[in-house]
Parts: sequence; C-alpha cells; structure tokens
Amino acid sequence: MRMNLLHASLLLSVVSLAIAEATADFECPPTVSLAFTEAHHYDDVDYDPNTGSSINGSFWTDSNTMETLHLLMLQTGRSDFDGLADNSFLGRNALIPFTDWTTFTGPFIDDAGWAVLALWTMAEYKAMRHQENVDEFLAAAATVYDLIASNWDDTCGGGVWWTVDHTYKNAITNELFLTLSAQGYLRFKNDTYLENAKKAWAWIESSGMRNAQGLYNDGLVFGTCVNNGETTWTYNQGVILSGLGALYAATGNETLIHEAEITIDATILNLTSNGVLKESCDDVKLEGTPCDSDQQIFKGIWLKHLQYFLIFARSKHPELVDKYKAFITSQSEAVSRFATDPHLDIGSVWYGINEGGSIFSVQSLASGIMAHVANAEYGTCLDI
Ligand SMILES: *[C@@H]1O[C@H](CO)[C@@H](O)[C@H](O)[C@H]1NC(C)=O
Ligand SMILES: *[C@@H]1O[C@H](CO)[C@@H](O)[C@H](O)[C@H]1NC(C)=O
Ligand SMILES: *[C@@H]1O[C@H](CO)[C@@H](O)[C@H](O)[C@H]1NC(C)=O
Ligand SMILES: *[C@@H]1O[C@H](CO)[C@@H](O)[C@H](O)[C@H]1NC(C)=O
Repeated sequence: MRMNLLHASLLLSVVSLAIAEATADFECPPTVSLAFTEAHHYDDVDYDPNTGSSINGSFWTDSNTMETLHLLMLQTGRSDFDGLADNSFLGRNALIPFTDWTTFTGPFIDDAGWAVLALWTMAEYKAMRHQENVDEFLAAAATVYDLIASNWDDTCGGGVWWTVDHTYKNAITNELFLTLSAQGYLRFKNDTYLENAKKAWAWIESSGMRNAQGLYNDGLVFGTCVNNGETTWTYNQGVILSGLGALYAATGNETLIHEAEITIDATILNLTSNGVLKESCDDVKLEGTPCDSDQQIFKGIWLKHLQYFLIFARSKHPELVDKYKAFITSQSEAVSRFATDPHLDIGSVWYGINEGGSIFSVQSLASGIMAHVANAEYGTCLDI
C-alpha cells in the first residue's frame, strides 16, 4: 500500500526517532560488514520464514532480534532483510485486525514491552524505506502499550507489575515502561506518554532498586517493597539508559544524563572481566548454574540500549560517544575473538576463551549481533 508523498512525510515525523539521521553520517565498512555477516547468518540458519520465528527461540527474544535487524538496516541505509517485518510472527499478527493482544503477549508485562519496541522499529523501517502505511503496526503497538500502562497501581508507591497476577514489581518492566513512554512521546508528541515517562522515572528513582554501587537489582520484595538484593543483570543496567536518554531528549533535564552515566560507569566497573561484559551466570565455575536462554541475550540488550542512549544524548553531549567508544568496540572484538565459532555461531561467554561454559543458542547469537550493531554505529573504526 503506497501513500502519497505528503502523507508519507507526515508519517515519517511520527514514527522516526531520527535513528537514520543520527547515524548516516558515518559508516565504518569493516564493522558494518561484520554486523551484517552475523545478521545474515541468523536469517539463513536460525530464522524460519514459515513461522516468522526463530528456531529454538522465544517470543520476547525474537522481538529483540527483529528490533535489532531493523535498527541495523536503518542505521546503515541498507535493506538486506526487506519483507522481514511483515513476515515476522509479530508483524503478521499486527497485520491481522482480530489479534487479541492480551493473549498474544501473555502473562509477562515485560514481554509486552519488548514487542512494542520491535513494532516501532519495524514500522520506522517500513515507513522510511518504502513509505509504507504502518497504521496497523502503530495501532498494535498502542494497544500493547496501553495494556502495559493498565498494570500500574499504587502498591509500593507506583510502578507496573511484572506479570498479570500482580505479585512482583521489578526493574526491567518499569525500565521498559519508562523507555516506551519517553520514546512514545518523542515519536507521537502525545502528552500521556510524557506524563507516564516522568511518573515511571520518579517511581524508579524513589523505589530503592538501584543499589549503592549504582546498579539496579532485580526488583522489590513483595509486601515490604524493599530492594530484594537479587542479581544485577546486565539488561537491567541497559534499558534504564534508553529511558533516561529519551526522557532527556524530551525534557532537556541534565540530571538524567548524570543518572545514566552512574549506571554505565558502574556496569563497566563491576559487571566486566578483562574489560568485557560478564553476566554472573557466564562464570559457570563460580556460579554452578549456567545462564538460561533468557539470560543469554542480556549483554547484547545492554549494548543496544547504550546505543539508544547515545542516539538521544549525542547532539548535546558528543563527548559521551568519545567516552564509551572504546568500551563498545572492546565488546564487539571480544565477541569476534572469544565467542564466535568457525560456523559463525556466537556463544554466551564473551570475556575469555570458551572453557566449556559458553552456550551457543539463538539468544546468544542475537546478543552478539547487538554488540556488533552498536559497534557499527558508535565504535572505533579499526583497519582490518
Ligand atoms: C534446535 O534445537 C535442537 C535440539 O537441541 C537441535 O538439534 C537443532 O540443531 C537446533 N536448531 C537450530 C537451528 O539451532
Ligand atoms: C495518547 O495516548 C493515550 C494512551 O495510549 C491514548 O489513550 C490517547 O488516545 C492518545 N491521544 C491521542 C491524541 O492520540
Ligand atoms: C530533573 O531530574 C531530576 C532527577 O530525576 C529531578 O529530581 C528534577 O526534579 C528534574 N528537574 C526538573 C526541572 O524537572
Ligand atoms: C561488584 O561489587 C561488589 C561490591 O562492591 C563486589 O563484591 C563484587 O566483587 C564486584 N564484582 C565485580 C565483578 O567487580
């Protein structure tokens, strides 16, 4: 469905986060090539076009993968995976008018959050590259966003619940609600989204979920509402960044940049080994239990949301790109050097050679691709 140009340009202003504008000014051929090589490997080997899903994947991790492949195409101006948005399980459900999104997204409110991010990024690609009508994608995203927002209540002073049975308030669900609300405002200029973003950040800030090291623990104890001291997963340090960056872009409040830097610097200091991100469960010898399939994608999500933070912050804070450039590059290099096998599969352990603890899955592949995509945009351009 083609639209006339006027409608198309109005629509671009609605869906665009200026990812393409922010990025088209510089492309580093070797890092872009590496990102596409791995993205094609995913598409060739792990993506099933009949179902629109990854083989051995899951809905929420697939949402992340779809978002990343479209982000890569947007930031480079390429169209290698044209048609993927409509073919994807999420996209084809957006195109069906009778999809029941409550059933579709399931009991986990955070899973719904990842779906909205994927729908917006796919819509942005379709609109920018092909001037396609993306009303269905945006309507689906709006419906899922409202579902998330309807799970906010006053228990523990605010916050959205992690699941529909309302037993746990945690960091990831609320960080997603923050980033969706702030990005939603930037995209649609709808004040409800801005109010929700401010409300979400005010609650997160006062919740006590960030510990003395500057890292977010998993969530709050049911009943007492105190920080439960549980694992500081890397993705909990990541999604907050895109939320703060987008809210900064919306309000110009410099404190938000400072708050994000606290968590970035704490992650680099405390959740790394040899200067490379390390999930606690990556160290099988220390932890005993290996990362599960969800945890295998967390480090990549950290990098993707650092990338978004830089997209939002960099026009007024170009020094932040310089500050984190080398770290971003180190992650992509470690993925190539330590985690990638001769078949181009990428394992879960990045910080050192695989001593048997690295798990090779579609989630760990997607995670590695996210490191390469962030590096292609904001890393150091190395001669190969
Ligand atoms: C999916 O998992 C099965 C069982 O572990 C395995 O045999 C198969 O190779 C996997 N397929 C892909 C594409 O990862
Ligand atoms: C703004 O967003 C809210 C929440 O999704 C929605 O109910 C409302 O209709 C939107 N307003 C406009 C003008 O689109
Ligand atoms: C800026 O953000 C900080 C941190 O959340 C907050 O305390 C402060 O009130 C905000 N300033 C304005 C003008 O909204
Ligand atoms: C993170 O900080 C805590 C508390 O300061 C410390 O016990 C732990 O060893 C640190 N972990 C890493 C990987 O640096």
